[in-house]
Amino acid sequence: MAPLGRPIEEPTPLSFGRVTLRAVQRGDAEPLRRLLQRNRGWLQRWEATHPSGQGVVPGSVSMRPTVRLLRRQLRAGSGVPFAVLYDGEVVGQLSVSELSGGALQSAQIGYWVSEHVAGRGIAPTAVALAIDYLFDELRLHRVEICIRPENAASLRVVEKLGLRYEGRRDAYIHIDGAWRDHECYVVTRGDAAGGMLRRVG
Ligand SMILES: CC(C)(COP(=O)(O)OP(=O)(O)OC[C@H]1O[C@@H](n2cnc3c(N)ncnc32)[C@H](O)[C@@H]1OP(=O)(O)O)[C@@H](O)C(=O)NCCC(=O)NCCS
Repeated sequence: MAPLGRPIEEPTPLSFGRVTLRAVQRGDAEPLRRLLQRNRGWLQRWEATHPSGQGVVPGSVSMRPTVRLLRRQLRAGSGVPFAVLYDGEVVGQLSVSELSGGALQSAQIGYWVSEHVAGRGIAPTAVALAIDYLFDELRLHRVEICIRPENAASLRVVEKLGLRYEGRRDAYIHIDGAWRDHECYVVTRGDAAGGMLRRVG
């Protein structure tokens, strides 16, 4: 059963300035693999890992099975996997996960961009586009972003967008080989009246 009680249609590409968000496509597998390989050191500290220790080094194997899985999740309505593009080039990913329907109508967002384009405000724009999509198209009530306290760059992203700090969850997500505390930030549809893009500088 799809968490929202219905399948999710492939989102139409969303753009603002030089940043575009569109659903991950099969053709993204190889560019993403190369990007992950190139950004190994940049991403490792912030990457979700499996507590069993299973898993592969990102970028070391084909991304085709992962992209197929992400596309299946989109069709099943259990997640929305976006590629982040800058001037038409894939430079990162933004994932909508933990979709809950019923009385919650909520989701979480995670993201990364390649080090070679960091510091250009790409992530805040991508997150604003995604939140507006989740509120306007999927009619969600609440979106959550959880960040390790050590991740100053990512904390700046939610700060720039004015998300509300809700509190710390101890040992919340398995990241880089251990259970890590996370600071959780939220925005509800009521908070975001007028759209999140207005908050992008
Ligand atoms: C967190 C991240 C997505 C921010 O993306 P971004 O598009 O660079 O976001 P911004 O341009 O708004 O920059 C945010 C902050 O990053 C820091 N930053 C900027 N350029 C940087 C660089 N080259 N290297 C390291 N940090 C940098 C600055 O503190 C900046 O804040 P400022 O604009 O107030 O100076 C990106 O740094 C990243 O992908 N990091 C690795 C993966 C990750 O942490 N994902 C999030 C997990 S919760």
